[in-house]
Amino acid sequence: MSFDVQAIRKEFPILTRMVNGKPLVYLDNAATTHKPQCVIDALVDYYSTCNSNVHRGAHKLADEATRRFEGARDIIASFINAPSRNSVIWTSGTTESINIVANGLAQLLQEGDEVIVTSMEHHANLVTWQQACAKKGAKLNIVPINDKGELDIAEYRKLLTSNTKLVAFPHVSNALGTVNPIIELTRLAKTVDALVLIDGAQGIAHGNVDVQAIDCDFYAFSGHKMYAPMGVGILWGKESVLESWPVWQTGGEMISTVSFTEATWNTLPFRLEAGTPNVGDAIAFGEAIRWFSALDLEGIQAHEKALMDYATEKAKEFEGLMIVGDASDKVGVLSFVLDEGHPADIGFLLDKQGIAIRTGDHCAQPLMNRFNVPGTARASFAIYNTLEEIDVFFNALRKVKAMLA
Ligand code: ALA
Repeated sequence: MSFDVQAIRKEFPILTRMVNGKPLVYLDNAATTHKPQCVIDALVDYYSTCNSNVHRGAHKLADEATRRFEGARDIIASFINAPSRNSVIWTSGTTESINIVANGLAQLLQEGDEVIVTSMEHHANLVTWQQACAKKGAKLNIVPINDKGELDIAEYRKLLTSNTKLVAFPHVSNALGTVNPIIELTRLAKTVDALVLIDGAQGIAHGNVDVQAIDCDFYAFSGHKMYAPMGVGILWGKESVLESWPVWQTGGEMISTVSFTEATWNTLPFRLEAGTPNVGDAIAFGEAIRWFSALDLEGIQAHEKALMDYATEKAKEFEGLMIVGDASDKVGVLSFVLDEGHPADIGFLLDKQGIAIRTGDHCAQPLMNRFNVPGTARASFAIYNTLEEIDVFFNALRKVKAMLA
């Protein structure tokens, strides 16, 4: 089996559309990826053939929906090498997954305790901890980064103390593309017995996430950055930790027994899954993982590296362009500013040429301040992008630069 980008592209119907009279060049994959036909079909098929509520019904459709829904959980558990399917919790996405961890940590945090995050957090993995710490009188420590956008491990080591209750960091930075040394960061956190949460929103699509090998306590991710629909995600957590966690939301499914005065809780994973879940999108998420897992992972990684290396080389040759975040280990993201023009203007003028990128602070305002930029223009790549698209992008960017000059 070898990786064939043209064959992959044929599986994504949206990639054939025109935008502003030009073939779409979609370079906004860190915001969301497109969906292959098999994922779209899985969603349509669910609603066309067995739409029903899960775990509850005494009829054929409910049974089929439940089997597909729980089957998708099994596919995801296997993909991340979870030791048990019970520790794979359906959520609405990475943000909700992080909030469930914060809800659980609230029972442990006390005045004087400390939480560590990094300078490259998405707001979801920063504001959540600001709030959690503020409520409990705990301190939030921030690991600094160097000018290349890499974590300062020496400073991180200094921040780790017996007061550290949780360390949270991204697997891959959404704004810079930096790949963090997650196994090393986790190992160091364990020397002070801190819990470890990894924001995997940008990491999961690049393959090889093995939660047992990483030995983190929680790994959070979303479907929509992994070729699956929006509105569905996963919190994986160590079962021993999640079992002792307080419930997240209350309602149906998460209970075991209920009287008019009290209730007892269901076992995992259902205890953290109150209410009717997002069944169709979960099934489609399972299909996305099945589809992705059948591809040549080494081929994918080589292709992504080729895209990143080529884009970086072109960016370094481009007069007046400054790359924001030039870590030695990077994947999927080229963030930059031009001497002339605000990132928003760059995005607008590229869109006129059929090229989709994201501009702004990328939900990482403190990180933008760290680099002293108002925001960046960000081209982000997925497995269906090509070297030719990168050429189209830089040719279009040259026109943008001329227009802004
Ligand atoms: N967090 C997503 C991004 O970085 C939306 O674009």
